[in-house]
Amino acid sequence: MKSIFVTGTDTDVGKTYVTAGLAVTLRKMGVDVGIMKPFAAGVPQKKGFKSEDVEILSRAAQVSDPENLLNPQFFKLEASPYTASKELKVKVKVRKVLASFKKLSKNHSLVLVEGMGGIMTPILKNYFVADLIKDMGLSTIIVTRSRVGALNHTFMTYEMCTKKKIPVKGIIINNFDVGGYPLKTLKRDIPALTGLPILGTIPFIENLSDNSLYKNFKKNVKMNLIIK
Ligand SMILES: Nc1ncnc2c1ncn2[C@@H]1O[C@H](COP(=O)(O)OP(=O)(O)OP(=O)(O)O)[C@@H](O)[C@H]1O
Ligand SMILES: [Mg+2]
Repeated sequence: MKSIFVTGTDTDVGKTYVTAGLAVTLRKMGVDVGIMKPFAAGVPQKKGFKSEDVEILSRAAQVSDPENLLNPQFFKLEASPYTASKELKVKVKVRKVLASFKKLSKNHSLVLVEGMGGIMTPILKNYFVADLIKDMGLSTIIVTRSRVGALNHTFMTYEMCTKKKIPVKGIIINNFDVGGYPLKTLKRDIPALTGLPILGTIPFIENLSDNSLYKNFKKNVKMNLIIK
């Protein structure tokens, strides 16, 4: 089975909860799934992992890998790795990320890697999330939302993947916006304009527990296309 990079059209589109939903569903299908958040940023949590994303993902996948593999670099500033490294005067550890990913890949049959922000979030000068995906040798799933503006973001993300020759498995629509595009419209227009399949559509979920994620993903996501 091949590992997958979960990217999004922007920050806050639902990458973490989509990755968690995929992790819990794969686990229940009997897959030994690993997770990774190469770079995380923000105010560190007082308990558990510094990154809340890592906390959510590792619980969903029920992994026991050490934090330095799951999240090789944490910046105490909510910003892109590039910006955080400049502000905090620390070096961005791309090599450590790649080595950690290699180790995690050996520990699990498949690793789900959650991206940071969007496809062109800067990591180093002239090195973006897209370049990291390339260096990790991964294909990607694009998470988009349904609010007006999502089509623009989706096509820009898709175009950049094409330019960088990143294989895209398809799109997951996180339909949690009130008053966005009707799902029917997105399901018609995104495949028609990109040729990409819609791998699933996630509704607004009141309680984002692993159990409700599982129920929704089992029903709404084509898991056979995810692991293909
Ligand atoms: N399907 C959903 N139903 C209800 N709320 C959701 C859903 N998806 C996401 N959310 C809410 O939106 C917020 C952002 O989602 P999430 O943290 O997964 O985004 P992200 O893309 O991982 O952001 P980041 O770029 O910071 O990693 C979450 O705090 C969650 O409460
Ligand atoms: Mg996240």
